[in-house]
Amino acid sequence: MARISAGVFTSHVPAIGAAIDLGRTAEPYWQPLFKGYEFSKQWIARAKPDVIFLVYNDHASAFSLEMIPTFAIGCAERFAPADEGWGPRKVPPVTGHPELAAHIAQSVILDEFDLTIINKMDVDHGLTVPLSLLFGQPEAWPCKVIPFAVNVVQYPPPTGNRCYQLGRAIRRAIESFDQDLNVQVWGTGGMSHQLQGPRAGLINKVFDNAFLDRMLADPEALAKMPHVEYMREAGSEGVELVMWLIARGAMGDAPTRVVHRFYHVPASNTAVGHLILENLK
Ligand code: DHB
Ligand code: FE
Repeated sequence: MARISAGVFTSHVPAIGAAIDLGRTAEPYWQPLFKGYEFSKQWIARAKPDVIFLVYNDHASAFSLEMIPTFAIGCAERFAPADEGWGPRKVPPVTGHPELAAHIAQSVILDEFDLTIINKMDVDHGLTVPLSLLFGQPEAWPCKVIPFAVNVVQYPPPTGNRCYQLGRAIRRAIESFDQDLNVQVWGTGGMSHQLQGPRAGLINKVFDNAFLDRMLADPEALAKMPHVEYMREAGSEGVELVMWLIARGAMGDAPTRVVHRFYHVPASNTAVGHLILENLK
């Protein structure tokens, strides 16, 4: 059977992708950030996932204000990097796992969480920057990826609790898939940042570190945090953090081990947070 071996949580700033693509990671501004991911690159080379279920948000690249699914699962064979205005990033295309994605869609929808099924989609920095942070610059991504897009761009995004409960349904789905697969769940986005309006540039280290603590100690209570608290404390784009709760929910109630924790300010306009949790079961 498929099993969820680990959860990876990380921010997804576009400028991080540009720093990697332009060979600027050793510059003084970027060096401390990439240092925080050195362990992660070694860890994932050992962990060797077969499939990553990657929770992220599209930033008006694949979707526009004309059509915005709350939860969308990528069921295609292949997903190309999106053109976000400067041409597509020169990173490999993402290979999907249509069979597992279709199984998850069936299981989760029959479990009463409605998903949008996507059979063709380009993927933006929300998905490709986390892959670059963990895998560097390979010729091809070393595993399959199921993109899972969440609306955090147009009000109303889903609640943290809805995300957490959906994560649990995703766990049931993955664990009932009849192939031996090492699956990781990733939650991306955040931490505190606001890209617009009078509070643009907002960063809240106290909030972010408390969020990381609560992800470990009591995610179920963290999931009850209302949107207004994310907005007030972590800025308008800080609400991306609800996506971490999908991946955290998918890790289930089994005991977990923290293998890595990292926090760095700033990367572009954003506070970067990163956690790696292993499932002990
Ligand atoms: C930035 C951060 C994001 O999460 C994003 O989607 C776009 C830009 C930034 O800090 O510049
Ligand atoms: Fe974002």
